[in-house]
Amino acid sequence: MNLKGRDFLTLRDFTTEEITALLDLAADLKKKKQEQIPHRLCEGKNVALIFEKTSTRTRCAFEVAANDLGMGSTYLGPTGSQIGVKESIPDTARVLSQMFDAIEYRGFGQSIVEELAEYADVPVYNGLTDEFHPTQILADMLTIREHFGKLAGIHLVYMGDARFNMGRSLMIGCAKLGLNFTACAPENYFPDAALTAECQKIAAETGASIVFSSDPKTAVQDADVIYTDIWVSMGEPEEIWEERIRLMKPFQVNKELMACAKDTCIFMHCLPSYHDHNTKIGKEVGEKYGLDALEVTDDVFEGPQSVVFEEAGNRMHTIKAVMAATL
Ligand code: CP
Ligand code: NVA
Repeated sequence: MNLKGRDFLTLRDFTTEEITALLDLAADLKKKKQEQIPHRLCEGKNVALIFEKTSTRTRCAFEVAANDLGMGSTYLGPTGSQIGVKESIPDTARVLSQMFDAIEYRGFGQSIVEELAEYADVPVYNGLTDEFHPTQILADMLTIREHFGKLAGIHLVYMGDARFNMGRSLMIGCAKLGLNFTACAPENYFPDAALTAECQKIAAETGASIVFSSDPKTAVQDADVIYTDIWVSMGEPEEIWEERIRLMKPFQVNKELMACAKDTCIFMHCLPSYHDHNTKIGKEVGEKYGLDALEVTDDVFEGPQSVVFEEAGNRMHTIKAVMAATL
């Protein structure tokens, strides 16, 4: 499998075999890391990390992965660089291509990371846009595969806002890898028709299925994985919380819902999560609307079925695989 020089913008651009090869490489690099076997596969290379939105996991995953691979990394945060204010994306792409071997971009529209990739001479990685979060999906799939020993045939139910980056990207990942995907969301919060049709076609080839439901208890009945994400994503206006809570509350992942799924069902979340009042937003919104937790209750988040921290750790191993494979 040769992925050298390839961009990583969405999983749509990769075959089932290529995604599986990335997961295999990630598993191998994870083992090497655990056994302290050096794997400096990209010695002397450098990656630019552009973050127009905040991040803990994705930034740390890229920086630690780069370090383990023998690479340098340069962080360009939401302020402090010329990007967008004094310098266009095409100009930025051509400047950074002179100094770096790869560029990671986290920001708003997918069109921005695509323009960056069009003008850059080096691989460009999508570290999250409004539409897609492909590196997260690799970590999720590695986590599911580690837990169940397989991916094909696993039933993943995504609860909540399925029209944004996580719902859309999970649908693609499930279709590509043969998982049965259910989006359980209020009306108008499902992935758009064009992407859904594209994924249905892929699913027909891989044996996956794609189902949309607005009935949480029925949707999770034979679920192996219940997955959720925050109800208001980065870049969305604060005023939206009121409407979002009204719409999403029936889709909260709580003990009652987990009890409707298989006993062996696991809980996943890309994080960060508002599962208690120990964050500024979790507290403000929770107190304002009289909720102890938002998209997932604390007992589920902290409970035995939750694999959220293994999932977070797998961000690093999978991002490392993407860089090692493309450089
Ligand atoms: N899941 C995820 O992308 O986390 P960060 O926003 O912390 O990078
Ligand atoms: N949907 C979330 C995902 C965070 C990893 C957001 O875009 O903020």
